[in-house]
Amino acid sequence: MHIHRYERAWIYFSVGLVVVFFLAVFTAAFAGGIRLPGPQGEVNPADLSSTDFANPGVRELSPGSYEAYIVAQIWQWTPNEIRIPAGSQLSLYLTSRDVQHGFKVENTDINLMVVPGQISHATRVFNRPGEYLIVCHEFCGAQHQTMAGKIIVEAAPTPAP
Ligand code: CUA
Repeated sequence: MHIHRYERAWIYFSVGLVVVFFLAVFTAAFAGGIRLPGPQGEVNPADLSSTDFANPGVRELSPGSYEAYIVAQIWQWTPNEIRIPAGSQLSLYLTSRDVQHGFKVENTDINLMVVPGQISHATRVFNRPGEYLIVCHEFCGAQHQTMAGKIIVEAAPTPAP
């Protein structure tokens, strides 16, 4: 079968492009550590009292390791302020009491859907001190744009001279 050389060139180019795309995906997944967040578990959104979400807040697990349980409901995050020292690992667990919300932490790769009945989870190390704005990025009603919070990463205290 005769294939015109331009046709052949485009076939090679197309196959090459697919290979490049696959390599890009694998590089992102394995070298860049980029993962799709998956559901972490289920809860009854009407009764969070017997779950870890009964007392939302930040807990220190060990020095440098924290977990935060956050409940979303229109139009607030509880808690809406999380304070950790720089260099800490923060494990976030979220669920919603009512409708679907979106949890995005500015200048990080944390971007989760917060769905009633499901637990969303993300873990990240915060090395750079500063304030990281949390916004709801899923339209959840009239005051959606006011649904915000922050993660405050405090600089390690300078050792006494
Ligand atoms: Cu919650 Cu928008």
